[in-house]
Amino acid sequence: MAQLFLPANSRIKRGKHWALPTTSSAKRVRVKDFKVYRWNGVKGERPRLDRYKLDLNSCGPMVLDGLIAIKNKIDSTLTFRRSCREGVCGSCAMNIDGTNTLACTKPMASVRGSIKVYPLPHCSVIKDLVANLDGSYRQLATIEPWLQAATEVGKGKGKDKSKGMRERKQTPQARAALDGSYECILCFCCSTSCPSYWWNPDKYLGPAVLLQAYRWLMDSRDGAEQKRLRALADPFKLYRCHTIMNCTNACPKGLNPAKAIAEIKKMVAKKPKDTLQGYL
Ligand code: SF4
Ligand code: SF4
Ligand code: FES
Repeated sequence: MAQLFLPANSRIKRGKHWALPTTSSAKRVRVKDFKVYRWNGVKGERPRLDRYKLDLNSCGPMVLDGLIAIKNKIDSTLTFRRSCREGVCGSCAMNIDGTNTLACTKPMASVRGSIKVYPLPHCSVIKDLVANLDGSYRQLATIEPWLQAATEVGKGKGKDKSKGMRERKQTPQARAALDGSYECILCFCCSTSCPSYWWNPDKYLGPAVLLQAYRWLMDSRDGAEQKRLRALADPFKLYRCHTIMNCTNACPKGLNPAKAIAEIKKMVAKKPKDTLQGYL
């Protein structure tokens, strides 16, 4: 259950001030100040807020570019996740300037004053800006996020079973029904900004996982709707959503998980009660 006070060793203390690296560039230096959450993963140690000064001429325009420049030129111990650096993989999700977002698509120029960077909120921290998302991924596995077709498509014969296999076709309308959900990159910016998820992260599935559940419910090739809805019809897994809408405001891909959750609730409501186990 939720813990309503901060343990003493989680209070952030003042950290190091890192000087601007000397530059041989003839260009006028454009300095940006970063305040970055640091915790070295050692139990009992308090986290700190380190300050870095960075010359914007020495790196790209996004917050992730700034963090990479800090790591490469100032402090190699700074730890964060990143991969695609173009808003596709979801790994650089963090809290920047008070908002959950992707560091690789957040321009430094959009932040006035110091750029404050923290890990995603209400998660345990592994190190520095790396939030622990194990629980969220375990929840994702429970909704079985893969196609479960009701019928087999033509199987190959002999040794090569894939030979002769046919694709499962969709009409343009059926394919369009996935718009707004297939684009989710599982960054968890939404779930970690949802108050209901903060209080019940072990029981409520949260907007990211529910959007994934909706994506498979809407897939015309999937035949497991009844099973999927039965698994979701639960007072905590689905009905902890109180339409607060933080999730939709937070999504850096412009998706609307709150609407997807409302649609799942409608699907559950349309089913005869005796076909769904549990609460309702
Ligand atoms: S709409 Fe639901 S899922 Fe989204 S933030 Fe609110 S309670 Fe959480
Ligand atoms: S819905 Fe948006 S914020 Fe949530 S996990 Fe998917 S891409 Fe990230
Ligand atoms: S690095 Fe992949 S989304 Fe930012």
